[in-house]
Amino acid sequence: MQLKHTEQIKQTALVTGAASGLGFELALLLAKDGYDLVLVDINIEKLQEVKEEIAALYPSDIQLINKDLSQQNVSEEIFQALEGKSINVLINNAGFGIFGSFNDTDWERDAAMLNLHVLTTTHLTKLILKGMVARGSGKIMNMSSLAAFQPGPLMSLYYASKAYILSFSEAIANELKGTGVTVTVLCPGQTKTCFQEVVSNGTNASENKIKFNIACPTEVAEYGYKAMQKGKVVAIPGTFNKFLSRLPRFVPRRTVTAIIRKIQEKNRGN
Ligand SMILES: NC(=O)c1ccc[n+]([C@@H]2O[C@H](COP(=O)([O-])OP(=O)(O)OC[C@H]3O[C@@H](n4cnc5c(N)ncnc54)[C@H](OP(=O)(O)O)[C@@H]3O)[C@@H](O)[C@H]2O)c1
Repeated sequence: MQLKHTEQIKQTALVTGAASGLGFELALLLAKDGYDLVLVDINIEKLQEVKEEIAALYPSDIQLINKDLSQQNVSEEIFQALEGKSINVLINNAGFGIFGSFNDTDWERDAAMLNLHVLTTTHLTKLILKGMVARGSGKIMNMSSLAAFQPGPLMSLYYASKAYILSFSEAIANELKGTGVTVTVLCPGQTKTCFQEVVSNGTNASENKIKFNIACPTEVAEYGYKAMQKGKVVAIPGTFNKFLSRLPRFVPRRTVTAIIRKIQEKNRGN
């Protein structure tokens, strides 16, 4: 059957970690723009609430996928759950932080974070990218952080894994030039979401104490969303954050590393 001139084919966006914070804000922006949604999160109750909240505002078709994205082979399971549905926008957003000296943090939690930030982000991108390239269009956004630009003592694996996401995203953005698929990597500074309250030190949550330069999640999501729609590769919200991201170019790396340690001690230390 031929589509009427005015009828548009609906596009679908998949967002991970969509039950709260930046993922939720990005899902709202996508729904507002008319996308159907596939929302993935570990927390099914919150995911259900988000679905109801979005459905009350916008007419999007919303599929929920309840998965722990730190588990092995989870990307394959998500891909199967899509049952051939085309994904036009992929946002790899889910993530969490671990505070503490590398020698002291819990390995199972360390490995879960690395699996989530590195393996799941990479595998889900690979699985969904193939369809995008075949169709000659698509947008991918990977969630990195200002943490990606220098080493982070006392959050070493978090900073290192976010640096991986930045490097990986910039590299494939370059590879994909001319295919119709763009890759954006969003690098927010501190943002007021649940993330800041639940950065784990292995045993309990540690709320951050530095209240300076904390962004609003709605504004960060809007900035990232616009950057993704324009196909911008590296998106750093905020003038001060842009300045901070460039600091390692002008100050010796070991000095920046020492400053980050001081900030982490002051921010999350006892
Ligand atoms: N907030 C910041 O200051 C900041 C700054 C830079 C970058 N970021 C990045 O932004 C992204 C989103 O964080 P946010 O600030 O929006 O935090 P958030 O409010 O905690 O949202 C993260 C969402 O991801 C979910 N999630 C966590 N682990 C998961 C897993 N293994 N499987 C499936 N879902 C999982 C969380 O579920 P639960 O709540 O149930 O765990 C939550 O719904 C993260 O990648 C984070 O690293 C945040």
